[in-house]
Amino acid sequence: RRRGGGGAAAAPGVLARSFASDASPARKVAILGAAGGIGQPLALLMKLNPLVSSLSLYDIAGTPGVAADVSHINSRAEVKGFASEDQLGEALEGSDVVVIPAGVPRKPGMTRDDLFNINAGIVKSLCTAIAKYCPNAIVNMISNPVNSTVPIAAEVFKKAGTYDESKLCGVTTLDVVRAKTFYAGKAMVPVADVNVPVVGGHAGITILPLFSQATPASNASLSHEDIKALTKRTQDGGTEVVEAKAGKGSATLSMAYAGAVFADACLKGLNGVPDIVECSYVQSTITELPFFASKVRLGKNGVEEVLGLGPLSDYEKEGLENLKPELKSSIEKGIKFAKEN
Ligand code: NAD
Ligand code: LMR
Repeated sequence: RRRGGGGAAAAPGVLARSFASDASPARKVAILGAAGGIGQPLALLMKLNPLVSSLSLYDIAGTPGVAADVSHINSRAEVKGFASEDQLGEALEGSDVVVIPAGVPRKPGMTRDDLFNINAGIVKSLCTAIAKYCPNAIVNMISNPVNSTVPIAAEVFKKAGTYDESKLCGVTTLDVVRAKTFYAGKAMVPVADVNVPVVGGHAGITILPLFSQATPASNASLSHEDIKALTKRTQDGGTEVVEAKAGKGSATLSMAYAGAVFADACLKGLNGVPDIVECSYVQSTITELPFFASKVRLGKNGVEEVLGLGPLSDYEKEGLENLKPELKSSIEKGIKFAKEN
C-alpha cells in the first residue's frame, strides 16, 4: 500500500482508518471557480469527503490562497491550486468529476437569465477545455442560468465529438435541499427523514417541487394554500437569499452543501454503490423538452437511468404545463448561443 497514513508506528485506529480509505478507489475532483463564494466552502466540503483522493482547485483569481488554506486539512485528498488559463489543462486532466460554479451571481432585481450574457461565455470556454482534457468526467453544472448553461455544455461537447449525455448534470440539488427544509418545518416531521422530488428546471416557475410525493407523510394537516405557499417559497428560495444578501451575491453556503451532496452522489455511483438517486437537470425524454430535471439513478457511467415523474396532483400537473414554455425558450437560447459562438 502506497498511502501509509500514520505509518507503521501509528495507533491501530489510525491505521484502520487509513486502510478503509485505501479501499475506495482514487478519484479526482476539479472545481472550476474554486475561489468564489460557492467555490471556497465547496472546496472545504470536498476536502472533507473521504472518497476524494485528489482535489484540483481552479480559478482565474485568488486560487493560491484558497488551495494553500484547504490543503492544510488533515484529510485524504491531495490539494492542488491552478490560477491561470494555461494551467487549466493540468487542473482538469484525469478528473472523474468536474464541478463548475464559475461565473457571476445575481443582485437584487435580476433574474438568473440576466446572467446569461456573461456566464454563457465562461461556461463555453470551460467546457471546451473539459472536452479536450477530461472528456470522460461527469460535469456538475452550477453556473446560472442552469436551464441554459447545461444545453450550452451539451452543444460544446457535441461539437468536440465528446458528448455523453450520461456525464452532464445540471445541479438542482439546492432546490431539493430547500424543499426538504421548508416541508419539514410545515409538516412537523424530522428534516433528516424528508424526501421531496423537485423537477423541471432551476429558475422561478420552472422549479416544480412535488410535495404530493413528499415523505414522510405530514403530521400537520396541510391545506392546498399551504402547498401553494411551500411551492412558491421553494421556487423563490434563490431570490430570498439574493434579497437578504442585499447586493453581496446569492446562495453560497447552502449551495456549497448542495453541490457537495450531488458530487458525493456522483462519486458513490462511479464507485459502484447501488441505488444512488438524486434529482438533476439532464438530457431527458420524460417530457417533450430535451432537458429536464427529475430523479436520476447514478452509477458507474454517470446517469444510468432518468426516472419518470410518478403520479402528480392536479396542481403539479398545472405547474408542469406552465413551466414548459419558459424552460423550452431557455434551452433554445443556450443551444443558439453555443451554435453561433
Ligand atoms: P462568485 O462571484 O462569488 O464566484 C465565482 C467565481 O468564478 C469567482 O471566484 C471568479 O473568479 C470565478 N470565475 C469567473 N470566471 C471564471 C473562469 N473563466 N474560469 C474560472 N473561474 C472563473 O459567485 P458565486 O456566488 O460562487 O456563484 C457562482 C455561480 O453559481 C453564479 O452563476 C450563481 O448564479 C450560480 N449559483 C447556482 C446555484 C444553483 O443552484 N445551481 C446556486 C447558487 C449560485
Ligand atoms: C439559487 O437558487 O440560490 C441560485 O440559483 C442563485 C440565484 O441566483 O438564485
